[in-house]
Amino acid sequence: MLANFVQATYIVAGLLFIFALAGLSRFETSKRGNAFGVLGMFLAVVATIIAVWAPESWHGPDWATRMPSFIGDAGLASAGLLLAAMLIGAVIGTIKAVRVEMTGMPQLIAQLHSFVGLAAVLIGFNVFIEIDGALRAGHPQTDLAFHLAEVWIGVFIGAVTFTGSIVAWGKLAEKIPSKPLTLPGRNLLNLATVIGIIACGVWFQNSWSWLALIVLTLLSLFLGFHLVAAIGGADMPVVISMLNSYSGFAAAFSGFALGMNVLIITGALVGASGAILSYIMCKAMNRSFISVILGGFGTSTSSAAAAEQGEIQEVKADELASWLSDAQSVMITPGYGMAVAQAQYPVAELTKRLTEAGVKVRFAIHPVAGRLPGHMNVLLAEARVPYDIVFEMDEVNDEFDETDIVLVIGANDTVNPTAMQPGTPISGMPVLHVWEAKKVVVFKRSMKPGYAGVENPLFFHDNTYMLFGDAKASVDSINSALPAADPRLAITS
Ligand code: TAP
Repeated sequence: MLANFVQATYIVAGLLFIFALAGLSRFETSKRGNAFGVLGMFLAVVATIIAVWAPESWHGPDWATRMPSFIGDAGLASAGLLLAAMLIGAVIGTIKAVRVEMTGMPQLIAQLHSFVGLAAVLIGFNVFIEIDGALRAGHPQTDLAFHLAEVWIGVFIGAVTFTGSIVAWGKLAEKIPSKPLTLPGRNLLNLATVIGIIACGVWFQNSWSWLALIVLTLLSLFLGFHLVAAIGGADMPVVISMLNSYSGFAAAFSGFALGMNVLIITGALVGASGAILSYIMCKAMNRSFISVILGGFGTSTSSAAAAEQGEIQEVKADELASWLSDAQSVMITPGYGMAVAQAQYPVAELTKRLTEAGVKVRFAIHPVAGRLPGHMNVLLAEARVPYDIVFEMDEVNDEFDETDIVLVIGANDTVNPTAMQPGTPISGMPVLHVWEAKKVVVFKRSMKPGYAGVENPLFFHDNTYMLFGDAKASVDSINSALPAADPRLAITS
């Protein structure tokens, strides 16, 4: 009875995770998708507590004779311990989630991925301790051999995810330099490490020895560190989604090792969707998917383009307000600075008022604008900007030449024309062709370069005007100046 309940709940949870992914793929259904995910996870957790409390519900009534002792002595005490660990985790997780700024999300995600990796390594070790114990207690080797492969593959992926995610966290949180680490013979070193790991796997499979597993773990930890350390800051979007995928596969292998279907389903979903997202990111950044998974990209380009000499032109908020009131069409290209300034609310207000006055306002979103996939879309949705005026880069990139004014709000790398030339860390990445519009106004606080550290010649173009200051304060000032510029734009509601 309990067994049926646990397995049925796992299936329902698996289905809910699939619905969650389907829902999350569109803005309109994303809230529902999230709700499905939360419900699925709640059911999976309840079923898992029951499964730990009553192992026969997990592995069938004859589990004690059929399964080796590595399933462990489960029972009420284990369920209690599990509950306590989960409560501690939930408290820490809630505090972190409440405190985190939207701009700190990528770092938090990288941290969470590192936990998944570490958990997969610990599960692998734990299962091997149990296998070792079962063997010593006289359990036939043939029954257990299959589990060894689950152990070492799970430990391998988990260890790579663990150190890779820690390095990604360090780079995103600016705790370590985002410059790529270029050791001599980097690709050869990666290849030798992978061969070493496979050799250790074979050694482990044949020797059942702890030494083999430990060496394999150390090599995997080094591989994770080196793969991500070799990747430059500008390519971090791909790294984040790649580590997301690795963490999913690490969880799936833990699921195999523990004989837990729900973990296999969830891990496979995360692994596959992360891999698809990595592929989409690679396309957006014009990188080769294969060289990304081998950690072999982002290093050939090291020097930022020399700063372009020239004069910049400045504009003040009230003058820009009058330009906007005369414009027929306005395109807004937000970037990381909009998130830092939390300028999405005044931007939504500006959009509403211009639209009501008959100006055609649209948003052009670069696939890697901000610091996490969909970052700008989330901010704009939060400020209730209508979805139907928010466009992907490819949908509007050839419409800038028909646009009167482009407002570049806190974006830099994603509008940098240098990306179209070779020799810089962002070379080859498609960018928004904002310079083709009649006028471009860049909202930022200084002349500093963007995330990739590449100077931006856009600032010196004849049709570019700089509006210096915090993006939120600047847009607020425009909103205040609008009624004076054009009475049609006075606040009506
Ligand atoms: P960035 O190139 O990061 O530039 C952001 C600009 O915003 C900076 O030039 C900064 O200039 C300005 N800024 C910061 N705070 C501001 C504020 N309070 N008010 C006004 N301006 C402010 O932005 P982007 O164009 O969005 O490009 C994203 C970059 O991040 C890409 O290189 C991408 O590869 C990388 N990245 C993306 C992701 C994902 S998944 N999206 C993940 C990791 C990394 P000032 O300091 O002068 O104000």
